[in-house]
Parts: sequence; structure tokens; C-alpha cells
Amino acid sequence: MPARDVLQYPDPRLKTPALPVADFDETVAALIADMLHTLDASPGVALAAPQIGANLRVIVVDVRRDAKEERRVGHGLVVLVNPVLLAAEEEHTIREGCLSVPDFTANIRRYRRVLVQGLDRNGQVQVLESEGYEAIAFQHELDHLDGLLFLDRVASVKSDLFPRRRR
Ligand code: NI
Repeated sequence: MPARDVLQYPDPRLKTPALPVADFDETVAALIADMLHTLDASPGVALAAPQIGANLRVIVVDVRRDAKEERRVGHGLVVLVNPVLLAAEEEHTIREGCLSVPDFTANIRRYRRVLVQGLDRNGQVQVLESEGYEAIAFQHELDHLDGLLFLDRVASVKSDLFPRRRR
């Protein structure tokens, strides 16, 4: 299964709330496989299904992919279906980017610690306690499932949005 193209802002599919997964059939298994291949082929650490044009509530996160060692702490590769935020605490401001918004980064308010629940790729419930960079990735990907981009959380375009230097 191939890596797929990551939709780019302002593609309207990125603004569409995703639907819950009802059945763990081969379509969902194929979607997860495609998401993992797409993540592998990307410079990012996480991906939500709407970013490859699938309108379903599935995210994949793997902070071990980050270049900075201090950010790689977490649960390794996580696949979450129908994820929800059960609890969150301690807001802080962090710099964030997105594979679908490659030209910008921004200062965003996020929680430092979160409790996330979802189903794994076999449909088993998992509850993950997470903090730091991984916790931010979870919040960012959950937003994608609700049709929200980090741009929607920028408090001031003038002072909190930054052009990203092209590599
Ligand atoms: Ni993103």
C-alpha cells in the first residue's frame, strides 16, 4: 500500500469533521496501513485520516520520528481510532507546525498533560497518559478530526504566526 499525498491547506476536506469508525473491516485496516506508509514518507511525527482525504476518526502518532531526542519520549507508535480527550491540564504556549500547512508555524496554547482514550487497530480500548511533545501531537491530531487546523487556534496572526524557511 502506497504512501498517499497529504492534503494541503486550504483543501476543504481538512475543514470537514470526520466520522466515527463503526466497523473494523478491511477498509479501515487498509486506511491505517496507508496512514503509516504516508507518515513514514513524511517529515512529520503524526497524521490524521482527513489529511489523506479519509473522512474517518483515525490518527497515528510516533514521536520517535522527531529529530530532537528530548521530544521522542512517549508510547512509540500509536494508532488510535475514535480517540477522545478524557482529561487535560496545565496550558502552555508552544510552537507548532503541520504537514498540511507547510509554509507556517505558530505559537499555540496547548495542554502539557493529557489523558486520551481510543481503540487500537484491533478495536481494543486503550487509555494513554501523555505529556510534553507527544501530548501536543495528540491534541493537534484530535483537532484534525474536528476539522480544525492549528491556524484556527492562532490568537494573533500578527505576533504568533511565522513563515517557515524552505529547506
Ligand atoms: Ni497537522
